[in-house]
Amino acid sequence: MNILILGSGGREHAFALKLVESPKVSSVFVAPGNAGTHKIATNVVISPTDFSAIKEVVIKNNIKMVVVGPEAPLVKGIHDFFLADAILNNIPVIGPKKDGALLEGSKDFSKKFMEKYNVPTAKYKSFTSKNLEEGFSFLDTLKPPYVLKADGLAAGKGVLILNDLEEAKEELKEMVSNQKFGDASSTVVIEEFLKGIELSVFVLTDGKNYKILPSAKDYKRIGEGDIGLNTGGMGAISPVPFADKNFLNKVEELVVKPTIKGLQKEGIDYKGFIFIGLMNDRGNPSVVEYNVRMGDPETEVVLPRIESDLFDLFDGVANQTLHQKSFSVNKQTATTVMLVSGGYPEAYEKNKEIIGLQEVKDSIVFHAGTTLNNDKVVTSGGRVMAITSFGNSIQEALDKSYSSIDEISFDKMNYRSDIGFDLL
Ligand code: AMP
Ligand code: GLY
Repeated sequence: MNILILGSGGREHAFALKLVESPKVSSVFVAPGNAGTHKIATNVVISPTDFSAIKEVVIKNNIKMVVVGPEAPLVKGIHDFFLADAILNNIPVIGPKKDGALLEGSKDFSKKFMEKYNVPTAKYKSFTSKNLEEGFSFLDTLKPPYVLKADGLAAGKGVLILNDLEEAKEELKEMVSNQKFGDASSTVVIEEFLKGIELSVFVLTDGKNYKILPSAKDYKRIGEGDIGLNTGGMGAISPVPFADKNFLNKVEELVVKPTIKGLQKEGIDYKGFIFIGLMNDRGNPSVVEYNVRMGDPETEVVLPRIESDLFDLFDGVANQTLHQKSFSVNKQTATTVMLVSGGYPEAYEKNKEIIGLQEVKDSIVFHAGTTLNNDKVVTSGGRVMAITSFGNSIQEALDKSYSSIDEISFDKMNYRSDIGFDLL
C-alpha cells in the first residue's frame, strides 16, 4: 500500500520512519517533506493545504491512505474534501473532519464542549466587540495572571498571559476591536489561570475505540530555565515521571472517556489523534487545550517508543477496529533536543550547510527545517532537526542526545542544553 503524509516537520519525518518499517507499506510519499524524508520516502513539492494538488498526487501515485501532520489542512477540511469526492471517498484520511477539528480551530467551541461534557478545565467566558464592557467586568472578577485566548488559529501566538489588569483590558480591546490576530481574535476566551506543571497526553481514536499513547513533556520557551519567547517546542521527554499510573488513570476517566463520548454525542465521527494539553495541579488534571494532531517535537519521542506497527493502528482507525489492534510501548525513556537557527523564533538566516550528520551513531536524527541544495543538507526553517535518544533514565537518554549534537554543526546553530531540567 502507498501512503501520503502531509507536512514537513520532525513530526512528519517520524511518521514516515515508522511507516516505512511496516511490512504492509510499499511506498511513502511526503508533501512537501524535508531532506530527512527525502532519504526514506518520496517528497512531492506541494502545499498540504492545496487540496486539488493533493488529489492529483493521490491519483497519480495510487495512494491508499493519507496521514495529516499539521492542523491547517484539517481545519480547512481535507477529510471532508476526500469524502465529498467520488474518486477519493474510499481513501481513509487519518485526521478529523472539519467538525472535529474545531476542538483546535475554535477555543470557544472547545471550552463549550468541555463544559458540556464535564471535562475539567479552567473557568471561562467568551467575548466579542459587542460585549467588550462585560469582558472588562469579567476581568475585574478574576485574580492575576489574566489569560486571554484568540478563538481561532493564530500560529501559536494567540494566547496572552498578563499580570496587569489595565494591560489585560487594553489587550482584550486590541484583540476583539482592532483585530490584533485578525479574524482569529474577533472572539476571545478569557479564562482562569491554572497552576501546576504541564504535560501532553496523546490519544489515537477511530471514533469509538481509543489507544492512549505515551505521555510527553515539551519545552516551549527559547531560553534555558524556561524563559524568553515561545517557540514551536525546543525539546521533549517521554514518559513524564510525574504522570504516574494514578494520574494517567484520572486522565483516562475524567478527560479521555468523556471527550470520546462527547464527540459521539455531538455526532462528530472523529478519526485521528487528539492531543490533550494538561495541567497537573497537585495530582489533578485540568485541560489547557485540545489539538487535533500530534505535537511537534513530542512526536519525536512518542512514536519511537511505540513498538506496534503504526500502519496497523491507522488501519484500525480507518476501519473502526482499533480495539483489535495490539499496542505496546517501549519502557525506556526517549528524549529529543531541537537544533534551531540562531535568532529563531524571531528573524533567522537560512541555507546554512549542516555538517556531521553521518557521525551520529547513538541517536535518531529527525529533520524539520532542512532541504537539499546540490546534494548538501542545508537549513530551511527555524526548527532544523530533533535529536532523539533512548536511555534507561532521562539523564542517560539526554547524555546521548547531547553527545550526538556535539557531532553536528551549522552556522549560528542554537539549542537548549537544559531539556528535562525540571524532571531530573
Ligand atoms: P494554548 O495555546 O491554549 O495551549 O496556550 C499556550 C500556553 O499558554 C499553554 O501551553 C500554557 O503554557 C499557557 N496557558 C494557556 N492557558 C492557560 C491557563 N488557563 N492557565 C495557565 N497557563 C495557560
Ligand atoms: N509542541 C507543541 C505543539 O505541537 O503544539
